[in-house]
Order: sequence, then structure tokens, then C-alpha cells
Amino acid sequence: MMLSKKMAKALNGQINAEMYSAYMYLGMSAYAADKGYNGVAGWMGAQAKEEMGHAMKIYGFVQSRGAKVELDAIGKPPANYTSVLDVFKKTLKHEQHVTGLINKLFDAAKAEKDHATEIFLQWFVTEQVEEEESVTDILGKLEMAGNHPGAIYMIDRELGARATAGH
Ligand code: FEO
Repeated sequence: MMLSKKMAKALNGQINAEMYSAYMYLGMSAYAADKGYNGVAGWMGAQAKEEMGHAMKIYGFVQSRGAKVELDAIGKPPANYTSVLDVFKKTLKHEQHVTGLINKLFDAAKAEKDHATEIFLQWFVTEQVEEEESVTDILGKLEMAGNHPGAIYMIDRELGARATAGH
């Protein structure tokens, strides 16, 4: 069964949202690298790749359902942040926003009785829980570290492990 026009449009919109996420995290990676936080830069680089993976998952799904992939312009992400804490606060806010978008898509699929899309989106629902959880965890550590450069350095090193672990 082909995707409805409405669902195809909504999924194409989500491809764009995931690509914007990748772009935003790439900008955060650049900010962190510039400030000497190589661990955060690596973590954000890995995050950007994951977001591109999310976009490609939807890209493939749209095509497999006989609809057309339509790519829109990607918005310009912020280039400046006040601190690593600021970066992760904005990351959590952004992921909560993305969770809202996924939930809306899920509701739309349910309303259309488009079971295939609903099942496809389940992976994203679960993924958002994990993303919000891991960012909340990092945010908690950064809040505890406060303004102690040594503590922030330790967190930076810990976050750097993600890039090498390939997650
Ligand atoms: Fe693709 Fe971070 O949500």
C-alpha cells in the first residue's frame, strides 16, 4: 500500500528535521572542538552521524512505500554557545522537540490506520526515550561539575569514549 500524500509529506518533513539535527550537532561539535573540548566534539560528531542515519532510515522507508523523497533546505544551526552546559541544555530541549515531532507522526499514522508506518515509527519512539535519557544523564553530571574545570575535563574525557566506541 502506498503512503498517503499527507503521510509522505509528514515523513519528508521528518527527514528534514533529522538532517537539521545532524547539522545542529555538527555545529555543536565545531564549537566544542574550538574550545578544546575534544571529547564533547567527538560525542557530538557521533551524534550528528546518528541523526543522518535517522534521516536515511526514513528516506528508505518513504521510497519503499512507493512515495517520492522530497528534500527541503536545511536551516542554519547556531554557531555559538556559552558553555558545554549550554550545549547540552539545548541538546535536551531539541530532543524533546524531536520527540514531539515523532509522537505527532505516530498519531497521524494511527489516525490513518497506516499500520506499516506506525510499526516503522516505533523504533523512533524508543530511540527518543534513549536519547533523552542519555542527554539528561550528561546534563546532570555537568550541573554537578558546575564551574570546576577539572570536573568538566573528566566529563569531556568520558564523552570522548563514545566516538571511539562507535556509538
Ligand atoms: Fe533523530 Fe536525536 O533524534
